Amino acid sequence: MNHGKRTSRLVIDYRNATSHAVGEEHGVTDADLNGIARNVREAHARITKEHDEGVQRWQDLPDDVALADEVAAFAADVRERFTDFILIGIGGSSLGAIATIGALTHPYRNLLSAAQRGGPRFFVLDNPDPEKVSATLATVNLQTTLVNVVSKSGQTAETAANFLVVRDAVIQAVGDDKAREQIVATTDPAEGLLRQLSDQNRYRTFPVPPGVDGRQTVLSAVGLLPAAIAGVDIHELMAGAAAMRERATSDDVRANPAYLLAGLSVLADVKHGKSMLVTMPYADALVGIADWFRQLWAESLGKKLSVDGSVVHAGQTPIKALGAIDQHSQIQLYTEGPNDKLIQLISVGEYRETVGIPDPPESMPDLGYFTGGELGQLLDRERLATSWALTEAQRPNLTITTPQIDAFALGELFYLLQLQTVMAGALYDVNPFGQPGVEAGKNATYALMGRSGFEDLKQKLLAEPDDATNYVNHS
Ligand code: PA5
Repeated sequence: MNHGKRTSRLVIDYRNATSHAVGEEHGVTDADLNGIARNVREAHARITKEHDEGVQRWQDLPDDVALADEVAAFAADVRERFTDFILIGIGGSSLGAIATIGALTHPYRNLLSAAQRGGPRFFVLDNPDPEKVSATLATVNLQTTLVNVVSKSGQTAETAANFLVVRDAVIQAVGDDKAREQIVATTDPAEGLLRQLSDQNRYRTFPVPPGVDGRQTVLSAVGLLPAAIAGVDIHELMAGAAAMRERATSDDVRANPAYLLAGLSVLADVKHGKSMLVTMPYADALVGIADWFRQLWAESLGKKLSVDGSVVHAGQTPIKALGAIDQHSQIQLYTEGPNDKLIQLISVGEYRETVGIPDPPESMPDLGYFTGGELGQLLDRERLATSWALTEAQRPNLTITTPQIDAFALGELFYLLQLQTVMAGALYDVNPFGQPGVEAGKNATYALMGRSGFEDLKQKLLAEPDDATNYVNHS
């Protein structure tokens, strides 16, 4: 389908993040923004050059229409044939798909009849939690389950273990030959253990694009394949991302929406002590976006070393919240606790459903304010009220508004937040790519599980300090 070229529709209202609304101590000032304008221009030139040299390849993902066509054709076929779909992957290999499917499909999709749902039920195995894995295997029909194992490196322990368990269960259920038809791997086109295993077993594969970190793969086969199988219009997702890319071309920190968000967050942190960034959508459907962004922000910016190798321990702690639920949980802390957070609210212009609130009984005049009201209106006014209350308490906040939740808007958000993160990396002067801190934990897991080549690390890890037992509390 040709959706034509369309323009980005997201709106960013950031007055409440500035000194004009919350004062000079807590809000970003005009001078702050002017002060980074040159850094942003220089970083933009560098990012553009890196892109031309083949780094920053994530920016090109919205253009791969051939891949989207191939994914959509594959999805159309398997949607007819399978009742259940298990995605096995962790971190960047599953969070994008979870966010997309959570935003764009029925909230109780798995409970709908096959006809209402369209396509298989959707399950995710990210954690190697024995209880959840057993429950999933006991819930799906293994005869008609499609398994998508996703791993860029092809060797992540959680994913490898979950996959071996599920693959074995499928083989037991249907035999080797049929199992082959029920497994699709998304991994590096040339390298890694999963690539080897897939080639040996002739599994259908889709590529994780080389030169793109896991957390930037939502618009590659990693995110697109599960989304298409769940019935999402992936071409619309890509069109939305392309529209945001088109909009975010200026090197001016105030004109480029992604650079503006990056500038506000980094300035809020380094100049105004806001060491935490809360993402708080006012829509259940968007909570997965907050989760996806949390990983993107944390892994990209939480870095020990600056680009030139100095120790900086950079980063801003990302927090996920959901309006209005967290008004009854975290907002007390945000409003009266330490003033150390910038809060980015995500609002929705028009919800996909309208649910009128019935007129309350006359005997309850205190509920009279609901007369003629509607749930979406209540939720959005809660968002406005929260923004006002935060501002009153001098807590900086901004609002990103999407006119509605659809595939196009989601694509816009994905691209916007990724470019925001890349520019934030530049402003912190860290490399937003790679995740050495995650690799350390991965290697320690291999060592503890006895993987060959990690013997020395295992010895080091298991060597107990002399006073170890002094610090263990038993009943
Ligand atoms: O963003 C990243 O690169 C990581 O979060 C990875 O996605 C995650 O560690 C899983 O790695 P892999 O896809 O190699 O299994």
